[in-house]
Amino acid sequence: MGNASILVNKSDRVLHLQFNRPEKKNALTLEMYDTIAETLRASRDDNEVRVVLVSGAGGSFTSGNDLGDFMNHPPTDADSPVSRFLAELVTFPKPLVAAVQGVAIGVGTTMLLHFDLVYAGESAVFQLPFARLGLCPEAASSYIMPRIMGHVRAMELLLLGDKFNAAKAQECGFLNEVCDDSAVLNLVQGKARQIAELPPEAVRLTKALMKRDEQATIEKVIDVEGGYFMERLRSPEAIEAFTAFAERRKPDFSQFS
Ligand code: COA
Repeated sequence: MGNASILVNKSDRVLHLQFNRPEKKNALTLEMYDTIAETLRASRDDNEVRVVLVSGAGGSFTSGNDLGDFMNHPPTDADSPVSRFLAELVTFPKPLVAAVQGVAIGVGTTMLLHFDLVYAGESAVFQLPFARLGLCPEAASSYIMPRIMGHVRAMELLLLGDKFNAAKAQECGFLNEVCDDSAVLNLVQGKARQIAELPPEAVRLTKALMKRDEQATIEKVIDVEGGYFMERLRSPEAIEAFTAFAERRKPDFSQFS
């Protein structure tokens, strides 16, 4: 399983999925989303997988969607790779645990809202730069974030889009623990092994019950946000933001009304 940019390793009933495009800070391409979606789909009914651990290679978690892909191959419908990735992630019936090192930007942060345990190294950097990229919240972040941290803190992160550290992510309620950068993967591997030894049906039931009330709403919000997001990707505001990133200059939104 896997390809060069997504490493997949299965051992002791733990599936370890690793983003592996370190030269681009593990920015996620269409092919990477496809591989992750397919790996999660295949793991649902695989008795040899009781928990999925996600991390990034080379000192980054992921810098989010590849901005070149956003410009050249924007998603157009619910069958696009990013949509299938999100659909698999939010309906995945077994625990998802994340080890975050380095940058976790855009979907690198929002995907964590759907994980069951999240740990990060002390130099992890989170960011939700959607508005400043001319985009809008995705992955149900507009629904989940105000509920776990309150409106003003969610708005600060989603509207201003500044980078924030692991201590703030923990205070905002989507990070279990901050530890030494060098210790985070070991720590999470230990948690995953611990989960893999628990009675599997009880584990799945615990997750299902904890998601039960919110599941349908979250899927609906992802659809609604996704519709706007796909429109925004083609907007002149977003094109200016992506072009500025490619040209390594500050975007100029002064001409827009
Ligand atoms: N899409 C495409 N390429 C990306 C990328 C992304 N999301 N994130 C990083 N890269 C590329 C850079 O263009 C650069 O490529 P190059 O070496 O060919 O020039 C390489 O990865 C290294 O990134 P660089 O910007 O030089 O590293 P840095 O340490 O100075 O900054 C980031 C790292 C992640 C803070 C910065 O690259 C960034 O802000 N990326 C965009 C994040 C983003 O907006 N994601 C989408 C959210 S919706």
